[in-house]
Amino acid sequence: LASGSLSIIVLGASGDLAKKKTFPALFNLYRQGFLPPSEVHIFGYARSKMTDDELKDRIRGYLSPSKNATPEVSKDVSNFLDLVKYVSGSYDSDEGFQLLDKEIYKYEYEMNRQEGMSRRLFYLALPPSVYPSVCRMIKLNCMNKSDNGGWTRIVVEKPFGKDLESAEQLSSQIGELFNESQIYRIDHYLGKELVQNMLVMRFANRFFLPLWNRDNIDNVQIVFREDFGTEGRGGYFDQYGIIRDIIQNHLLQVLQAVNPIKDEEVVLGQYEGYKDDPMVPQTSNTPTFATVILRIHNERWEGVPFILKAGKALNSRKAEIRVQFKDVPGDIFKCKKQGRNEFVMRLQPSEAIYMKLTVKQPGLEMSTVQSELDLSYKQRYQGVVIPEAYERLILDTIRGDQQHFVRRDELKAAWEIFTPLLHRIDRGSLKSLPYKAGTRGPAEADALLEKAGYTQTHGY
Ligand code: BG6
Repeated sequence: LASGSLSIIVLGASGDLAKKKTFPALFNLYRQGFLPPSEVHIFGYARSKMTDDELKDRIRGYLSPSKNATPEVSKDVSNFLDLVKYVSGSYDSDEGFQLLDKEIYKYEYEMNRQEGMSRRLFYLALPPSVYPSVCRMIKLNCMNKSDNGGWTRIVVEKPFGKDLESAEQLSSQIGELFNESQIYRIDHYLGKELVQNMLVMRFANRFFLPLWNRDNIDNVQIVFREDFGTEGRGGYFDQYGIIRDIIQNHLLQVLQAVNPIKDEEVVLGQYEGYKDDPMVPQTSNTPTFATVILRIHNERWEGVPFILKAGKALNSRKAEIRVQFKDVPGDIFKCKKQGRNEFVMRLQPSEAIYMKLTVKQPGLEMSTVQSELDLSYKQRYQGVVIPEAYERLILDTIRGDQQHFVRRDELKAAWEIFTPLLHRIDRGSLKSLPYKAGTRGPAEADALLEKAGYTQTHGY
């Protein structure tokens, strides 16, 4: 870190995101020495009236989830909490933000003695409905005041709007106040280890260069499954649904030149029991499951379906990308039914990259079997701790590295792809099919996959 003060301001400090993700990520960065106490101070801001100690009590349990924390961890927790100060105020009044500014300035003055630069990082762990007013309040009251190279940066998270129009409106409102270089839009999937590895894998290896096209690849599947429902989040979720919650952002690498999505290439589902949440209306058609096929209209990918699939309350928890190759012409070993070549990147759980291929079954017979070339991170990188996505992204924000954040034009492109479909769903012209919790989702989705050319490989 550069010298000077760094103030990290968590707005919405008493909310779920702050407790479960933001503060634990800050704590881990602190433990690794990235937030030196000589430079860093953390401010929590929210509407509730609380003392510093009350806020600390709320977050303490989330910092080291294990009940049997070692004395060393407990000491780190208390040292970390010493850096935290709480300020209460509303999200749309100058008064609260002026008070916040005063507190930040007081600390900066002590740290820098007017020499070092002051850096202010505002993390909006808040619903997007208050982004415009909070950004305005920051701009009016809380900007960095040092004129020797300091900065003010804003971190925001999805959902960025509900469709193209509302997202663009939100972008313009924030864009009037801050430059693109000051805005960090988090999609935490971009901070996951294997997502970051994709670019390296693709461009640092000769294997992929000649194969990465429509002549060799039959279909690509990007899958997100969770084995739990929307527990406690029904109120939020029902307003958004699985396409806005997961597919439009986490699963979509922005793909240019996507054809309009056709209804017959979509299957929606809703798990039975979803409406038991008192926040979810009985008439809700909000999908908790969706399979959507995207078709890219360019020289490399014409004709290759990109199958995006996401669901809550399914039979397993998994996020992966499966690139399935075409059949080998000729099939001289009669091994076609064992399955095709597949290249798989598993993001979670247990990060892995593997290739499915056909080999000779060891032994006297000349028979074949499908096997794997397997890079499992746990085995290959024993003892290496894979950082949490949020840790990496917060550190990038401090360092001013925007490459793993969502740019405004990417966000717009992602909404352009999904908005017409989302509007058809909102109007009720596509229905969510019921499925039982703990299953693979509606059978119609498997049928759609098969129709798109996906062939189940052995053992999957
Ligand atoms: C969030 C979604 O963005 O990502 C949640 O709102 C989802 O619905 C979560 O559960 C999944 O993140 P991860 O890192 O646990 O796969």
